[in-house]
Amino acid sequence: MSEPVLSVRNLIAGYEPGVPIVRGASIAVGEKEIVVVLGPNGAGKSSFIKAIAGLVPVESGTVELAGRDITSAPAHIMVRLGLAFVPQTENVFPLMSVEDNLKVAGGILKPKDVPARIEEMYATFPDLARHRRIAAGNLSGGQRQMLAVARALIVHPKLLVLDEPSAGLSPKFVSMVFDMLSEIRKSGVTILLVEQNAKAALAIGDRAYVLVEGKDRHEGVASELWNDPVVAELYLGQRPASSIKGGSA
Ligand SMILES: Nc1ncnc2c1ncn2[C@@H]1O[C@H](COP(=O)(O)OP(=O)(O)O)[C@@H](O)[C@H]1O
Ligand SMILES: [Mg+2]
Repeated sequence: MSEPVLSVRNLIAGYEPGVPIVRGASIAVGEKEIVVVLGPNGAGKSSFIKAIAGLVPVESGTVELAGRDITSAPAHIMVRLGLAFVPQTENVFPLMSVEDNLKVAGGILKPKDVPARIEEMYATFPDLARHRRIAAGNLSGGQRQMLAVARALIVHPKLLVLDEPSAGLSPKFVSMVFDMLSEIRKSGVTILLVEQNAKAALAIGDRAYVLVEGKDRHEGVASELWNDPVVAELYLGQRPASSIKGGSA
């Protein structure tokens, strides 16, 4: 890997001092890669990426973005440094229109650049253009995730970090979200993704890590991990139902 876009070393983080949830996790994400973080429920995946994004206190360890130490930078500074985080829930303002959501998200751009950038987002996500006057809370689940991602992309991030973007979506929208992420990577954005939907995430990912009890326990090429017996074991029978023969994929 050339110099990684994101390099996380021995991260220890948690919500209360002395109670680590992330217990020495290390990952690296190369330029234009899609890297997936998998792991059982409660493994600390959300806490891990929130700590990377400056939303959970870091006790020790380092987070570097393109070689720059950004450990513990406040979340609003992270955006300016090039790290855009899309939380699993509450990632849009439901009472605001689609367009106003984009305007607010573009707030750190030069004001004169915002309208053109919003048009670029509409060109990328035509569904949002059609619904620009609609309150975000009235969008379908898939459209809402699209808006959340557009809000993150509008500021030209180096790295897009997403927490379970397919959670709670119907199968049609799940594939839409993963197709969208593949397209975004093609446009040159590096992606770090936490997913419960391991099969679909590994299908679009380059590499993946398995996080167990707050620590990266296994790493591999995404296309090989699905059938990796170590992964099955680390999940301890918690692999998603789609892995069971005859189950719906
Ligand atoms: N806001 C919070 N305050 C205190 N503990 C939390 C908070 N959020 C999550 N935790 C705890 O952190 C652990 C890991 O949770 P989480 O990071 O959400 O795991 P995952 O995303 O892998 O399911 C859980 O034991 C959970 O109870
Ligand atoms: Mg989670």
